[in-house]
Amino acid sequence: MTMTGSEARILFVDQSGELGGAELALLPIAVRYRERCAVVLLQDGPFRERLEAAGVTVHLLVNAGVSKVRKTGAALAALRAIGPVLSQVRALAKLARDYDAIFVNTQKAFVLGTMTRLFIRRPVIWFLHDIMSREHFGGLQRRIVRTLAPFADATIVNSKAAADALAELTGRRDRVVDIAYNGIDPAPFDLTVNTQHRAIRAALGVPTDAWCVGLFSRLAHWKGQHVLIDAVAQLLVDEHDAFERRPVGGVRDRGHAPSARSGRVSEIHVVLVGAPLFGEDEYAARLHEQIARLGLEPRIHFAGFQNDVAAWMAAMDVVVHTSIAPEPFGRVVVEGMLAGKPIIAARAGGVMEIVDDGQTGLLTGPGDARALASALGVLRRDPDYATSLANAGRDMARRRFSEAAYIERVEAALARAIEHAPARERAVPGRV
Ligand code: UDP
Ligand code: GLC
Repeated sequence: MTMTGSEARILFVDQSGELGGAELALLPIAVRYRERCAVVLLQDGPFRERLEAAGVTVHLLVNAGVSKVRKTGAALAALRAIGPVLSQVRALAKLARDYDAIFVNTQKAFVLGTMTRLFIRRPVIWFLHDIMSREHFGGLQRRIVRTLAPFADATIVNSKAAADALAELTGRRDRVVDIAYNGIDPAPFDLTVNTQHRAIRAALGVPTDAWCVGLFSRLAHWKGQHVLIDAVAQLLVDEHDAFERRPVGGVRDRGHAPSARSGRVSEIHVVLVGAPLFGEDEYAARLHEQIARLGLEPRIHFAGFQNDVAAWMAAMDVVVHTSIAPEPFGRVVVEGMLAGKPIIAARAGGVMEIVDDGQTGLLTGPGDARALASALGVLRRDPDYATSLANAGRDMARRRFSEAAYIERVEAALARAIEHAPARERAVPGRV
């Protein structure tokens, strides 16, 4: 019998209780299967609340010995984790008896999920949201993934960039992986429903007519908030120089000064939306130091984590993405487009599969503050160009990154994995 769509009973596993991109990507899938699925979280947090509010059953399997292991952690820490890992594997295997398949959504979940094979036979579907490169992971973690990768019955990745990095790591270019680009519901981004922008700006102390740059990312060094801060410092110098060079008594040169047509110079402000979700508090402190050193305090606003990203994006003039290491996919880039904002993103990883440079947004080199400053300058000086990029970006994002297409793709990979699993690996109620 072929099992399709939401008929399958799936046990999803995710290591985080936070609302990171991988968790937000899992949410619509878990909701799709909610009648027969459950989600196991290895940490408690707002993700559990979101899942439960959406009617999804959640089991918490928290073990401090496993939570402590970091993605660049050393061998000793991993050795210490062996006992706790085994006890979690056992607990997971016990839960998995009532399900047709285990769907692992993060690295630790993947390790635990593949190891359940020691105790129980269930197909393991791995959704890899990461680029398995040296820039992102330590040697030990990469070796573990290389060793366990063949034990996944199906592998789904969030971009071709993630697929390529995995093939590079495993040396297996022949292995089938399904690419499922995140799909995002455009409804909350519909500009007509976002009427709070004045209130949002007022709450932050951003003038209503300021030119506002929004960066929506958890605070983490590789997400590159520091690059935007340097870029804004550079842009202010560029604009000051252009102002000094303006022809005496003449109209400002459209090529150099902002708001050339109106002759009015709006203030530049930056809003950093996001929190240090995964223990990057030290980086957040360094950002504050950098801002103070550059004298940019009045212009840079920390908004913390916000649930209503669509409303916050609506309050911006431009949305930027500044990751200094290749972004595996980059939900925020698609969201910025759906919000109808011109976007500037870092030219690497999955982002290059989203943005067509100069057509649907602008791309600049990762970590290149000067290039980011000049791209910001281009959008600031030429609002018509900015609007045309934004419109093209929104049309493309609505077409290519629909939630329905995303769920369908994941569902197809899941159904195939379950169907191809040997009969003994399928759950027989009451007989496992
Ligand atoms: N996000 C959010 N609130 C915030 C900052 C970010 O809900 O304050 C969301 C954002 O809208 C996006 C996700 O977090 O959907 C981040 O996903 P992305 O793929 O961009 O990056 P990740 O953090 O997963 O690497
Ligand atoms: C991960 C990646 C991010 C991606 C998200 C959803 O968190 O860092 O780039 O968009 O997963 O797939």
